[in-house]
Amino acid sequence: MESHPFLTAVSKIDQGTQTGAQYVSSSLAPPSLVAGPKRKTWDNWPAIAYEKVGVPLVTKGKSFYHNAHDLYFQKDANGKTLMDEFLEVYKNRPDPVNMCGIRINHAMALFLAVKQIQPTLVVESGVNAGVSTYFIRAASPITKIFAIDPLEVPICNQGDRWIDSSRLTTNYTGKKFVDLMDLDWKGMVAKGEIDPDSTLVFIDDHLHAFKRIAGVMKFGVRHIVVEDNYKYGEGATMDDKRSTPKQMFLGKEWKKEGDWLFNNIVAYAEFPPIVPPIMAQANTDERKRAGGFMVAVDDNTDIVSPMLRPDLREEDMKLYKHIAATLGIDPSLKDKMSYMQFMNYNQICHLELLPMPPTLLYEK
Ligand SMILES: C[S@@+](CC[C@H](N)C(=O)[O-])C[C@H]1O[C@@H](n2cnc3c(N)ncnc32)[C@H](O)[C@@H]1O
Repeated sequence: MESHPFLTAVSKIDQGTQTGAQYVSSSLAPPSLVAGPKRKTWDNWPAIAYEKVGVPLVTKGKSFYHNAHDLYFQKDANGKTLMDEFLEVYKNRPDPVNMCGIRINHAMALFLAVKQIQPTLVVESGVNAGVSTYFIRAASPITKIFAIDPLEVPICNQGDRWIDSSRLTTNYTGKKFVDLMDLDWKGMVAKGEIDPDSTLVFIDDHLHAFKRIAGVMKFGVRHIVVEDNYKYGEGATMDDKRSTPKQMFLGKEWKKEGDWLFNNIVAYAEFPPIVPPIMAQANTDERKRAGGFMVAVDDNTDIVSPMLRPDLREEDMKLYKHIAATLGIDPSLKDKMSYMQFMNYNQICHLELLPMPPTLLYEK
């Protein structure tokens, strides 16, 4: 355990201003007066997020993910929080393990993105057993969903796929599969069936994330959540290892792609995990080589500060224990299932893309 009991962790931003926990860039300052990159630091957390490429932790502009803690834990007039609502949804998820899909951290990120963007359409690439579809629908009963997956039957022995009963969901699965890039974006826009400007694309298909981001940008999509935002050197598939925003922003071999992406986004933010890796110190499992999981000995120099610090603050420990108890999870995370719930984290990120004039489109 770290030895800073009950210290207050306050986000600090250099050369920017801060409203609550929200990042506000100093874009009003003339560029010549902004010396060096903006950066974001957190008390008692080693990582520094820079507003530039070539570093392990990048941030840009303003995203609701920067403000995730407050959005989840602020009480409304009835004393309820978004976390309360999420826990009810999470408790009732169709597959409690979701072996090859999202767990608490990523489900919270997806749920928040839908709540905040209020998209008219979510295009979900990679459905598997339908658990992520369930969270999208739970976040918004009025959003259209295109649920895309080439397989008829879920992988990882996950049983039957959860099928949304809403008529607002179109399943492009199995025989009806159409790849994200092959949807008739232009035709649907022309017919007024979709509005790319208010569409969220959720990428969880382990394909080439960068090409998919650059591709849907051509159709005018403005919001993307990338679930498997693997770190440099990590990934479950060949494409995972050479295509995520986090890799493009850091790897010298992808400098062209990283620069292009950085210059063509309004905002980039990684969603904070609920609790830090140190909460899994009782777990002795080895680190998964592909990545996607935090372990207690992580140095935490390349991920954003968690929402709660039960290791530092008593009130956060109470909240953590409440969340774990509500979901029937052992907070020591000693057993594999409990560990997987809280430590599955792959830097899931939100990108707000620039509206693209065609001349700026990326061509390799
Ligand atoms: C990690 S799973 C998705 C998990 C799901 N989003 C969840 O959180 O429960 C990845 C899925 O991507 C699917 N997939 C593979 N190629 C795809 C493609 N071209 N388009 C969409 N999905 C694809 C696989 O069949 C698999 O079901």
